Amino acid sequence: MKPRRSVLAVPGSNPKMIAKAKGLPVDEVFLDLEDAVAPVAKAAARATIVAALNEGGWGEQLRVVRVNDWTTPWTYADVISVVEGAGSRLDAILLPKVTDGGQVRALDLLLTQLEQAHQLEPGRIGIEPQIENAIGLRNIDEIATASPRVQTLVFGPADFMASIRMRTLVVGEQPEGYEPGDAYHHILMTILLAARAHGLQAIDGPYLQIRDLDGFRRAAARSAALGFDGKWVLHPTQVDAANEIFSPRQAEYDKAEEILEAYAFHTSADGGARGAVMLGDEMIDEASAKMAQVVAEQGRAAGMTRTTRFTPPESAAE
Ligand code: GLV
Ligand code: MG
Repeated sequence: MKPRRSVLAVPGSNPKMIAKAKGLPVDEVFLDLEDAVAPVAKAAARATIVAALNEGGWGEQLRVVRVNDWTTPWTYADVISVVEGAGSRLDAILLPKVTDGGQVRALDLLLTQLEQAHQLEPGRIGIEPQIENAIGLRNIDEIATASPRVQTLVFGPADFMASIRMRTLVVGEQPEGYEPGDAYHHILMTILLAARAHGLQAIDGPYLQIRDLDGFRRAAARSAALGFDGKWVLHPTQVDAANEIFSPRQAEYDKAEEILEAYAFHTSADGGARGAVMLGDEMIDEASAKMAQVVAEQGRAAGMTRTTRFTPPESAAE
């Protein structure tokens, strides 16, 4: 799967911001028809999005549209408009406020009919369910497995905090009175575990204080440390930080590749066919190699190159 370290949110009603997004080095752009677009502007925004997708000028970014949730009057027309108008240029639909697997299946069925009717490649358009309420979190496994189109599980912290009535107005920061703990840990971990259990990407949502880059970096570093694949960005200033924070550090990447090479060498017949070996001061074994594989894959997907190399010891079979 292509990386989604940085996922840029762009209001679908704003052609200028869409034009700017096309040139930004983000892994995904999602054009919003939901909360960033006023109800009276939704119909016009569909047309703006279709035109922007068809106009070209895009880089390598994944192109996604966030439709309105199934409790509104708009979802079906959002999906039909963008897929009929620009389905071949669309990588996925972001489905907000998902409550259960049925909502994902409903979108899957609609997409399947649209693909058939418009000779689009069957099953190519993905689904990114957004977890934004208590019921969605409780039903996360059925949501994750409701359709083979599901590619990610996306956290929606603002709606989620409102849904559980958490006493905070600052998304991504701890609610006052809960400073010693991390109020987000359970939610982030539940999303991450479901994503890993079902082979999906786990994506953290927005940090709304866009002038506070340190705050963004802190929030992003927390979910990156847990193992999340990426985070939404709302402003160009957050882009480089997200790409950096959700890629391994150079030294970490070098070390991971070195562990893999050292392990491959020492477990081979030429290297002594051993299971647990020393690399410098560290004992490495099959589990260390698995951890290194994760970091190495992230680094390769981010286009990193090595700055060090493993040299087999001269008397390896001793
Ligand atoms: C995003 O949609 C959020 O609710 O945080
Ligand atoms: Mg939301």
